[in-house]
Amino acid sequence: MKLTDLRVAVLGLGLMGSFHTELLTSRIRGVQVTVVNDFVQAKAEEVAARIGARVVADPIEAIKDPEVDAVLLATPGNTHAEQVNACLDAGKPVLCEKPLTTDVDSAYAIVAKEAALGKQLIQVGFMRRFDAEYAALRELIVDGGLGNPLMVHCTHRNPAVPPHFNSEFMIRDSVVHEVDVARFLLGEEIASVQVIKGVATSTAPEGTNDPMLVIFEMTSGRIVTDEIYVRTGVAYEVRTEVVGESGSALIGLDQNLQVKSTDGRWGGRITPGFVERFGQAYAVELQRWVDAAGQGTIDGPGAWDGYAAVAVCEAGVQALTVDGKVEVQLQTRPEAAR
Ligand SMILES: NC(=O)c1ccc[n+]([C@@H]2O[C@H](COP(=O)([O-])OP(=O)(O)OC[C@H]3O[C@@H](n4cnc5c(N)ncnc54)[C@H](O)[C@@H]3O)[C@@H](O)[C@H]2O)c1
Repeated sequence: MKLTDLRVAVLGLGLMGSFHTELLTSRIRGVQVTVVNDFVQAKAEEVAARIGARVVADPIEAIKDPEVDAVLLATPGNTHAEQVNACLDAGKPVLCEKPLTTDVDSAYAIVAKEAALGKQLIQVGFMRRFDAEYAALRELIVDGGLGNPLMVHCTHRNPAVPPHFNSEFMIRDSVVHEVDVARFLLGEEIASVQVIKGVATSTAPEGTNDPMLVIFEMTSGRIVTDEIYVRTGVAYEVRTEVVGESGSALIGLDQNLQVKSTDGRWGGRITPGFVERFGQAYAVELQRWVDAAGQGTIDGPGAWDGYAAVAVCEAGVQALTVDGKVEVQLQTRPEAAR
């Protein structure tokens, strides 16, 4: 370990925590995972032994540990409020997997607390911003390559999900990514959310609307549509098309491998899962976070972005039981959170 390496604690060693730990210990430069923590002690001990880290059994003590400069939170969303607050109290940069918290009040309290500190320590894990295609699409929009962007159409399809993915969970866990994509691409807030439910796939549990069409109206009046369908049985398909006054652009087609077969059929490759689609984006996200955290700051979506996403998802969940639009309630953005 170099003296200049950022010493990171990883909290939560499930799907995302294991994935991030693997990246941090194999591909990311300038970082050492010194401390690991998981609710399941045996899991933490197994990972610690493998990567040469130390287990700290209590998550708050892991955050406060003197051999920890920065924290990666991959714990379940309902633990984030307490753990992010502990990072702020300790003055340590944190990469918090989405969601920032699971309710708007605790999310805004964090925005206000960080603003009062006067420095940005919280980065939220909206990794699509680090995906080369999304970054290029944003650049195209900002450079005026499409003229005024008028509409965005998103498609978000998973091959399969666990049974607990009900309609509310689909909004909070899946649509949340398009919430951030819409805000990132168009550079404005979401004003309202509407959910249109159609016919559910026969594999959806009773009472779950899968697929759904979610419609965001941005503050400018621009419309963003999102088809969310998480039990396709096919593959992981995430597409985004921006329609502008002078052109349109589409990403996520996976057209890099086109196959023409002798029986007269043709086809391409579809990414089977999120790791194949966004693996590189997670690596870029982590490298930029490590570099920024070493300077005591962030380089990516911050606490306000996390709060705005929570507020939009709250409106989205209300929209599940309402005919028509539900307005997003956003508090005032502190100057320091800009
Ligand atoms: N950015 C993305 O693409 C993406 C994808 C999936 C999940 N996520 C987010 O990542 C986070 C983790 O999701 P996951 O799929 O890895 O979940 P998971 O259930 O696979 O893993 C969570 C881990 O945290 C541990 N844990 C539970 N409570 C804890 C606590 N209080 N302190 C420490 N550890 C605790 C569990 O034992 C488990 O090992 C969630 O916030 C989720 O929304 C983000």
